[in-house]
Amino acid sequence: MIPAAGSGTRLGAGTPKAFVELGGRTILERCVEGVGAAGLVDVVVVAVPEELVDHTAALLPDVRVVVGGAERSHSVRAALTEIGDADVVLVHDAARTLTPPAVFGRVVDAVRAGAPAVVPALPVADTLKRVDDGGRVISTVDRGPLRAVQTPQGFAVEALRAAYRGSTVATDDAGLAELAGYPVQVVAGDALAFKITTAFDLRLAELLLGAMTG
Ligand code: CTP
Ligand code: MG
Repeated sequence: MIPAAGSGTRLGAGTPKAFVELGGRTILERCVEGVGAAGLVDVVVVAVPEELVDHTAALLPDVRVVVGGAERSHSVRAALTEIGDADVVLVHDAARTLTPPAVFGRVVDAVRAGAPAVVPALPVADTLKRVDDGGRVISTVDRGPLRAVQTPQGFAVEALRAAYRGSTVATDDAGLAELAGYPVQVVAGDALAFKITTAFDLRLAELLLGAMTG
């Protein structure tokens, strides 16, 4: 499932982020292509803004298209209605367009090995400080056990369905599985799975794409 219904406020391109062009094709097209390149996925469901449903269906004839919601979790919940009888489900941000196939492989392998919820993640490189409202440092956080979490996040279908039966107040899908009582397993993420959030990120993705495709 690819939630792609966000407006891209922080990118500020004037177009919903998934439909912004990156090297001549939309972020969403490149994301779907990346999912296909992993060779692990039978059905792709994309959630997009309502006004772009027909456009998306024409652009990507092999994917199922649903209307997304006001929050990312609403978009994922809408996509969940179209997954058919899948037993392993991946949820992947459209905005993590350059995610390498190996990341998909690690996530799926861990779910198939029995983990109900799996996230790719990276160690945190920067020093982290807790601050008060006035910008004064309260403490330095031990970053050793911290991880920055990416997508695709992988689930045994029953775990994701249970996660979405409860509250949807969490910033990622594994957070909801966690609230539903499931253990969440971390596998190695990849720097290329970064999320295109700001104009800087889009520029970085353009440069990386240029370097990768020669
Ligand atoms: N998303 C979605 N439905 C929403 C909000 C987000 O499907 N209501 C998707 C986005 O399209 C994106 C992914 O969730 O692929 C991660 O969200 P984010 O990077 O925050 O994208 P936007 O919400 O579009 O960006 P912003 O927060 O800057 O507006
Ligand atoms: Mg957002």
